[in-house]
Amino acid sequence: MFDKNTYTNRRKALKEKGLSGIGIITGNGEAPMNYLDNTYHYRQDSNFLYFFGLDFPGLIGVIDFESGEDFIFGDDFEIDDIIWTGPQVTLKENAAKVGVEKTAPFAKVFDLVRDAQQKGRKVHFLPPYRGDNKILLEKLTGLSALSINAHASLDFVKAVISLREVKEDQEVTEIEKACAIGYDMHVAAMKMAHPGVWEQKIAGTIEGIAIAGGSMTAFPIILSQNGETLHNHNHSQYLEKGRLIITDAGAESAMHYASDFTRTTPVGGIFTQKQREIYEIVLAANNKATELTKPGVTYLSVHLAAAEVIASGLIDLGLLKGNVKEVVENGAHALFFPHGLGHMMGLDVHDMEDLGQIYVGYDDEIRPVDQFGTAALRLGKRLKPGYVITNEPGCYFIPALIDKWQAEGINKDFINFDKVNEYRGFGGVRLEDDILVTETGSRILGKRIPITPEEVEATVNSK
Ligand code: GLY
Ligand code: MN
Ligand code: MN
Repeated sequence: MFDKNTYTNRRKALKEKGLSGIGIITGNGEAPMNYLDNTYHYRQDSNFLYFFGLDFPGLIGVIDFESGEDFIFGDDFEIDDIIWTGPQVTLKENAAKVGVEKTAPFAKVFDLVRDAQQKGRKVHFLPPYRGDNKILLEKLTGLSALSINAHASLDFVKAVISLREVKEDQEVTEIEKACAIGYDMHVAAMKMAHPGVWEQKIAGTIEGIAIAGGSMTAFPIILSQNGETLHNHNHSQYLEKGRLIITDAGAESAMHYASDFTRTTPVGGIFTQKQREIYEIVLAANNKATELTKPGVTYLSVHLAAAEVIASGLIDLGLLKGNVKEVVENGAHALFFPHGLGHMMGLDVHDMEDLGQIYVGYDDEIRPVDQFGTAALRLGKRLKPGYVITNEPGCYFIPALIDKWQAEGINKDFINFDKVNEYRGFGGVRLEDDILVTETGSRILGKRIPITPEEVEATVNSK
């Protein structure tokens, strides 16, 4: 964990956001896999990690916005636990490491919340995403678990986002550690991209690299020759010469900061002419996005500029027709690029998505766009120094989407469907880097994973 002043200072900054009453931050419990004691790999809640730092189950944190007191509730281990788990530090000692003096057994949090309610004080909580925390909040507040998210505090959500969205230097250093692991994962995947190799073997190998790096993957690995399925977790195929493989994978650092990279590799290490043409378009969109990523610009404008690069390239290839700006204004590019350019990244790979994407990615000035494709953009607002984002343009040939648009005549004035149908079976290309917005521009985090066609080909064919 970071130095205790980090956590004290973050809670102090939160107390200066003008909230009244108390704020509850639930930690995560263990999550049973197939029976109670056989659990998934433990993952603490990111808001809890940010403000209270302790990375183990059974905790709840409370911040009193008026008195300034901080509390951690949890139960010390008994001898019956210790024979299974080994010696444990007391909660008091652990809490001291994050600058919290007031600790108490878990059940005491009920008294504290009841007392606040009886005094008519506001009880803020963040929207829970796990069932056990919904039930806990029901018990604490008296609100139904089924509708508890509707009662989460928007003021609390906005205050937390305003802090977490701007990364401290030490957080960027952690993200760079995750990027270094991600680099090794992707280079290993490229080197394995030869005909006859089982996709699952590559996925398992790179997941092992993430775990050996200190923690785990930042999200379930996306890896497939059917890269046109955007989040394809099916790794059952054997690699075939002449196909492309999309690998979208990243690691968590030991302190749970994420990386998130995508590379597209030709099986056997040589792009065909057709593959290289599409690849170069996506690479140009990726480079354009990085060039435009700087403080003060809206990320919506960067997304649209990347869409224009893709549209322009596809017009040159005869897949789209007409004027680039009109193509993008009408959303015709989204047949090929149906997702957003990128998202914030930090303690979560889609940072703070639990708090509500609309509050993370948009504000009063920049509102979400209700057009297929751009509607999937998770981040639109103006960029600030300290934001960490991904840039991940893509170009895909999705049979079901092509069929639908062709049958319904969607954007038919801009799309050459005869030509598009020649690309069935192509799969897709996505290229994703992680970017820090600096005072003057931006920089790619970590050593850039091989990305030019020549670099990728050389890596596949290296030992
Ligand atoms: N890894 C999912 C994404 O790139 O957003
Ligand atoms: Mn990704
Ligand atoms: Mn991403």
